This record gives sequence, C-alpha cells and structure tokens, in this order.
Amino acid sequence: MHQESLQQIPRLVVLISGGGSNLQTLIDAIAAGTIVATIELVISNQPNAMGLARAHKAGIATQVVNHLEYSSREAFDRELIRAIDDKQPELVVLAGFMRIFTPELTNHYHGRMLNIHPSLLPLFKGTNTHERALEAEEDQHGASVHFVTSELDGGPIVIQAIVPVLEMDSPSVLAARVLVQEHIIYPIAIKWFCEGRLTLQNATVSMDGHNLPVQGMPYLP
Ligand code: GRF
Repeated sequence: MHQESLQQIPRLVVLISGGGSNLQTLIDAIAAGTIVATIELVISNQPNAMGLARAHKAGIATQVVNHLEYSSREAFDRELIRAIDDKQPELVVLAGFMRIFTPELTNHYHGRMLNIHPSLLPLFKGTNTHERALEAEEDQHGASVHFVTSELDGGPIVIQAIVPVLEMDSPSVLAARVLVQEHIIYPIAIKWFCEGRLTLQNATVSMDGHNLPVQGMPYLP
C-alpha cells in the first residue's frame, strides 16, 4: 500500500511547537529538489511559534490547533487527526512538536509518522535531554529519527547521529551541536520514506527490504 500510494508526489503534514529549524531544513530540501514531496500543511499547537512564519514565507498553509482550547487530550488529538487527514498525507513529520499523543492518534498514524528526538535513544526519552546527558557524564550524545508509536520517544529507530560531549559543554552548546546533526539526518530519513525505501513492518524498520538494526542506520559525519 505504501509503495502504491507513493506513485504520486508524497504529501507531508508537519507538526511544530517552536522555532521550526527542522521544518526549515525540510522546506529547503524540497526547494532544492533533494526531497520530492509537498508540504500540504504546517500545524502548530503554539499560536506564536516562529516556525509558522517560516511556513508563511515559503507559501505553505498553516493551522493553529491550540491544546489550551480543548478540554482533554483526546479532544485535542481528535482535532489534530481531523486537520491532518483533511490533507491526506502519506507522511506526518513531527518537528519539535511538544505534546504527548494518545494511543488513538499514534495507532492511526502507525508507520507513517516520524519524529526527531535530541538524544541517542533509547537514552534520555522526554525533555531536557542535553542537561541529562551532561549530568550523566556521557562522552557521546546525539539525535535519533524514529517512527512514532504509543510509547513516548520509544518507537523503532530509523537513523542516529552521534556527537561528542566536550569537557566545557553547557546544555545550550551541546544542544547546538546536536541540532546541526538533526538538520542532516531528518531530511535523509524523510527522503528515504518519500522514495518508498523506508517502511515499518510491525515493530521493525525496513530499508530497501532489509531490516535495520535496533539503533537504526548510523550516521557518521
Ligand atoms: C529539536 O531539538 C528537536 O529534536 C526537539 O525540539 C527541537 C525543535 O527544534 N524535539 P526546531 O523547532 O526544529 O528548531
């Protein structure tokens, strides 16, 4: 089904909450022809997200679905599903979307929703990953792209980039080093998906018909 539905140019919907630098790299990769896809809609739960301005500048439709206006997580997720499905995307891209989903939503998008997380998963799921990596005195840190499942930041991993942790690192310096890698690996994973090379079979990521190791593909700069 995945292969068939990708006969046409894949449609993407991107969900953001903030700055949208990962959204920008996707916009740029599509503009450069590196990724053949269209961004049909950018959804933000934060009305003032800077990423909305990036979408406007690129001529992409935007929609705010403000979680504060919904009485429950279920009601918010139902509205998200409605807004996303209206565009019939092949892939939903989470790019710094800072809300936890209900299983109803994650099951609905099984195998067609990707997230980028700023850690070497399964380490440091959740927030404040850079602070926690420094506190744990890790000598390496990084970013992971994974398929989204009902387990927060626990879905099957597609690709990981490793960065060194340096002695003088602060959380923000380390975050900036990781973000550079996010901007490389997320477009790679999205391109693979859009080309029909990347699929999720039950809980296993498959690339060109071969199962990936549990840490996904390593990206070594
Ligand atoms: C990134 O570090 C991403 O991994 C995390 O939130 C940040 C979003 O950055 N989930 P941006 O909005 O793409 O600039």
